[in-house]
Amino acid sequence: MPVGLLALGTYVPSKVLTNEDLASFLDTSDEWITSRTGIKERRIAEINEFAYDLAVKAVEGLLARHGEEALEGVDQVVVATNAPDAFFPNTAALVQNHFGLNAAAYDLLAGCPGWLYALAQATGQVQMGLARKVLVIGAEVLSKITDWRDRSTAVLFGDGAGAAIVGPVPEGFGFRSFVLGADGSGGGALHMGALASSLPGGVRTGRTIYMNGREVFKFAVRVMDTATVEAIEKAGLKKEDISLFVPHQANLRIVDAARARLGLDWERVIVNLHKYGNTSTASIPIALKEALEAGKVHSGDHLLFVSFGAGLTWAAAVHTWYEA
Ligand code: ACO
Repeated sequence: MPVGLLALGTYVPSKVLTNEDLASFLDTSDEWITSRTGIKERRIAEINEFAYDLAVKAVEGLLARHGEEALEGVDQVVVATNAPDAFFPNTAALVQNHFGLNAAAYDLLAGCPGWLYALAQATGQVQMGLARKVLVIGAEVLSKITDWRDRSTAVLFGDGAGAAIVGPVPEGFGFRSFVLGADGSGGGALHMGALASSLPGGVRTGRTIYMNGREVFKFAVRVMDTATVEAIEKAGLKKEDISLFVPHQANLRIVDAARARLGLDWERVIVNLHKYGNTSTASIPIALKEALEAGKVHSGDHLLFVSFGAGLTWAAAVHTWYEA
């Protein structure tokens, strides 16, 4: 049974933090951040705004675009997040309760590719008859786990959320392939602690994001290339069949390397990281919705998604767009 994206909504907090704002309290500059990352500004959640709040607003955005009936038949909610409100209850259960859904609910923790991992889970569940429709959300308040004294990470991240409904689509549409991967040997390159005081390999954990930028950069360029090529092959397509590339919005140089390896011109790549920074699991849905609003996505288009992040993990998918 073909399964794909039926509806999409997003939310970003209204508070904007520019590179100049960062330079007022960190030893950095707009020139450094722009030339190394492409990021100009990012959104920051209010002090009392958490992943659950952003997730709810993204779903409300979805309902405003697609109507209240979009939630009919949703019997699972998944929230992919690296900054949940609590260990438990899971954030998805809070969303389930908010919308009064008769649905199972769980969170998924897989670094930035979490939203793509969750789409793969949802697609499989619908195909197996374990779910009718799944509400798949990526919601992040990375600003709350950022060390604002660490210029090597503080300039990169932003807050936001995206929500999609996954369900049956007509023949010839929907997800054609998924590629999911992990290499835990690289876990020390990007981490934040929880209960244990250290990770395998003797890495000491703290309660904010730690990142070895160079290691993650090299890893990202490698897996963005291999995962996209594999996803296109598994989909039975060729690089030139891809209508639109929607990569994880982490760094313009990483996106450019992937774009060049795929032989795509910029017209076929969605980039909005200059406005939002890296919003982790929310980055692909936010970019996709912008592409839809800009009229860059049409029924039958083959979309290519790819992401990488903490774990280390990666994911890619090819989806043939369905417009009812
Ligand atoms: N402003 C000014 N200087 C800085 C800043 C800053 N904000 N940050 C670092 N520097 C300095 C460093 O201290 C270093 O100085 P040194 O040479 O005196 O030691 C110098 O700039 C160069 O640092 P590099 O790390 O070599 O810079 P690089 O060109 O690699 O860019 C960056 C750093 C942007 C972090 C890059 O490595 C990168 O994007 N890596 C990938 C990060 C990423 O995408 N992470 C998200 C993962 S997804 C997830 O799951 C959350």
